[in-house]
This record gives sequence, C-alpha cells and structure tokens, in this order.
Amino acid sequence: MKSIVILVSGRGSNMEAIVRAASPGARIAAVISNRPDAQGLQFAAAHGIPTAVVDHKAYPDRAAFDAALAEAIDGFAPQLVVLAGFMRVLTDDFVRRYDGRLLNIHPSLLPSFPGLHTHRRALEAGVRVHGATVHFVTPALDCGPVVIQAVVPVLADDDEARLAARVLAEEHRIYPQAVRWFVEDRLLIEGANRVRVRDEATTTSALVVPPVECVS
Ligand code: GRF
Repeated sequence: MKSIVILVSGRGSNMEAIVRAASPGARIAAVISNRPDAQGLQFAAAHGIPTAVVDHKAYPDRAAFDAALAEAIDGFAPQLVVLAGFMRVLTDDFVRRYDGRLLNIHPSLLPSFPGLHTHRRALEAGVRVHGATVHFVTPALDCGPVVIQAVVPVLADDDEARLAARVLAEEHRIYPQAVRWFVEDRLLIEGANRVRVRDEATTTSALVVPPVECVS
C-alpha cells in the first residue's frame, strides 16, 4: 500500500479527481494546504481524509515555510507527494527532499507556457492546440520529466474560461492516471527529462487526445 499526501491551495478539483479515482494499492494519507480557507480541505475532511494547514503567512521566508511543510508531510510518511493546484514556489531543498516522488500538474503543454495565466497566453499566442501536463518536479519551475500530457483543440470562439474548462476536464483524467502509474511502480525516469511508462503500449497512452465534439 502506498501513502499519498496531496497539497492544495484552493478549489482542489484535481485532488478530488484523484480521491474519487481511488487507485487500488494507494491510500490518501492527508491533504495539506498553505491556505486555511482552501475549498479543497472541506472535500477532504468530508471524505474522512486527515487535513492539515501550514499557513505560509506564519513564516518569515520560503525556507522556513518549506521546512514546516516538509515536517507536516513527513509526519504521514508518504511514498508520493502530489501538488494539485499548490500555488507556492518551492525551494530547491524541498524539491530535492522528494526527488522522484513529487508530481505536479500544469495547465499547458509544457515546455510551452510555464508560469501563470496559461490559457490567456495560449489564446494570445494563437496556438491551435493547448492542454495539460503532469510532470515530476525538479528545482526549475514547471520543468521536470513529463509523465503524461493531454491535448485539447483551441476553438475559434474560445475565451479564457471555455478553454480553461476544456483543459481542466482533461486534467481530471490524466492526473489520476499518472498517480496510478506511480502507485504501480511503472514510472521510470530516464536521463534528465524522459519518463518511460512500463508496459505503456499495452495500456493507456501517456498522450491523451480526447475526441473533438464541438469544433465550430
Ligand atoms: C489547475 O488548473 C492546475 O493545473 C493548476 O492549478 C489549477 C488547480 O485547480 N496547477 P484545482 O485546485 O485542482 O481545482
């Protein structure tokens, strides 16, 4: 049985998708937030998952916050730490502590559009496809070996909200999938950037292209 700690800062819909997917062989040991008012905490508590808050405002700097956060995480002794809309930049020390067992989801097809406002920037750039990426976390922001990506079309009448909703629906598919692969010990990091999914060819692909239902 693998224990998982999920970190959230807000809505927590990706955390919810992972909890609902309930990977066999996995137990959500805790949901931790840096914000006491994070909506995701309520869902976790309602589902009997232990919750904790490590409020970043209570610490003088990133290093002190990350040390407190690591202490809270390690109290649950997880094999995997999942960032699910966790809106804090983490120190290199923190990232290295969870090397190879820290996953993040980013709402773009990395390495395109790292950082914030990805949907707006994709629309401004005029790209025809957009999407989401689950990757292992390394010290460089929104970098790190890619586990799975989902691609969605950018449609002619898209605005930021419509595009974000289309991407989010795919996030909710690919993040539980990535977690399942990790729990099954099927993710092998090869070299600096590549992830091999053991036996991938015979199961779900690491590239998800949903059918286009609404091209205008
Ligand atoms: C998601 O779009 C995720 O990709 C990004 O932040 C958002 C979090 O949404 N990192 P939620 O809290 O999981 O609903």
